[in-house]
Amino acid sequence: MALTTLYVELLSFACLLAAIHGVNGRAVNQFPEDFLLGAATASYQIEGAWNEDGKGENIWDHMLHEHPEYGNNGENGDVACDSYHKYAEDVQALKDLGAKVYRFSISWSRILPTGDLDVINQAGIDYYNNLINLLLENGIEPMVTMYHWDLPQALQYLGGWPNPILADYFLEYARVLFDNFGDRVKWWLTFNEPYTFTRGYASSGSQAPSQNAPGIGDYLAAHTVIRAHGMVYRLYDEQYRPTQNGKISITLNCDWFEPYNDLEETLEAQERMFQFQLGLYANPIYVDGDYPAVVRERVDNNSRAEGRPRSRLPSFTEEEKRMINGSADFFGLNSYTTMLVISAALGHSPSMDLDCGVLRIINFTWPSSSAIWLKVVPWGFRNIVNWVSSRYPNYPIFIAENGYADTGELDDEGRISYYGQYLAELLKAINEDGANVIGYTAWSLLDNFEWNSGYSQKFGIYQVDFDSTERTRTPKASTSFLANIYRNMSVPEEYFQ
Ligand code: NOJ
Repeated sequence: MALTTLYVELLSFACLLAAIHGVNGRAVNQFPEDFLLGAATASYQIEGAWNEDGKGENIWDHMLHEHPEYGNNGENGDVACDSYHKYAEDVQALKDLGAKVYRFSISWSRILPTGDLDVINQAGIDYYNNLINLLLENGIEPMVTMYHWDLPQALQYLGGWPNPILADYFLEYARVLFDNFGDRVKWWLTFNEPYTFTRGYASSGSQAPSQNAPGIGDYLAAHTVIRAHGMVYRLYDEQYRPTQNGKISITLNCDWFEPYNDLEETLEAQERMFQFQLGLYANPIYVDGDYPAVVRERVDNNSRAEGRPRSRLPSFTEEEKRMINGSADFFGLNSYTTMLVISAALGHSPSMDLDCGVLRIINFTWPSSSAIWLKVVPWGFRNIVNWVSSRYPNYPIFIAENGYADTGELDDEGRISYYGQYLAELLKAINEDGANVIGYTAWSLLDNFEWNSGYSQKFGIYQVDFDSTERTRTPKASTSFLANIYRNMSVPEEYFQ
């Protein structure tokens, strides 16, 4: 055999081995041994019992009761999946799925009806204690989000997140959670998707509390949220970690932004989009305690041009920067899809859209789901995981949400195909590209209340019958598909071809 032929043969053998075993010696389709696979939900989307047993009103209750037209056909979360009464069925569903972790959120106003410490609602504490205990009895780790968009309405009467004092209220609420649940909860997330919920201060009709102060309210809210996150992290770190020994972080959301073309200005737009959506939160927490330079500069310049005496984006004090910098034990990431991006002057003045200057385009040639924004683009998932892993190194990534929308059919082939392909791309990021990812909770365990889309978009691995007072849960085809993956800790090889 000629030397060159031998060389080529050896090389292809090496490539084959790499394909089977990845960079870390593990088969490419295999999850790391201690990887946490599970499912996620959120309080307002599943619990119902909106005014039972002492729960206070929250901003979603309030907005959709006052403005049913903001929802889908007047739908709301008053009953939802009735998980307040049916949590034991949810735990059974998780067990049947083989979930090792359940990410759920606590409703602030179920624990503190006024948002403050004047009333502590024991029934609310009992509810979450029962859920946590049942999870643990079934070998499922609870992962708790403290805030998944349902602010006590009493705190909205004070202005909500744009009011800096909300950080103090959040700190006190967090203390109640650590005191009551921290002996058993070892995974904490302060906020879910601040980029999304702070839009509730930028426009009316979509996110609660529907306050129309674009380019101002959203930045003020973000500023309070980042401070509140840092404060709660430090509280845990100093007062609870020594005895409770858990991990705490925040969940940020970002899809992959694919440049529309390879012009320099398009690549700059791509970077801006990442920085305005993800960097706004991730840079202070994971990089240097402060906003990304491009965000700071553009908002400051626009504010000046508008004749304002101050920037619409507030500044952190040096002490706050120190407190916020490094305030996470891992990186919680929600990601679903990919969009095309191109530089553009759009949006009214003032607004974050105008400050950012990027047009996001939905590519209708990509495979769709039933949600207009959610295109099935598995390679984009690998890209965003790798982007986060390279920009914010030293922090393990936990995929806190990823999932597919349809109209609720039991034979949910679209969901099976989505999870097969997305999990394969995730495994390539881990095993071929070396990303340090430690867990994945699919969105969602149950069909549930999908915010403005009401019950028209279904993300569940289990179907819920919203026409029945029983809210019957039924496994879909994707339930056993995911259960197999969860049991074997591997994705079928056909998804790697
Ligand atoms: C993100 C949110 O956290 C969750 O509440 C929502 O239902 C899913 N994405 C799907 O849109």
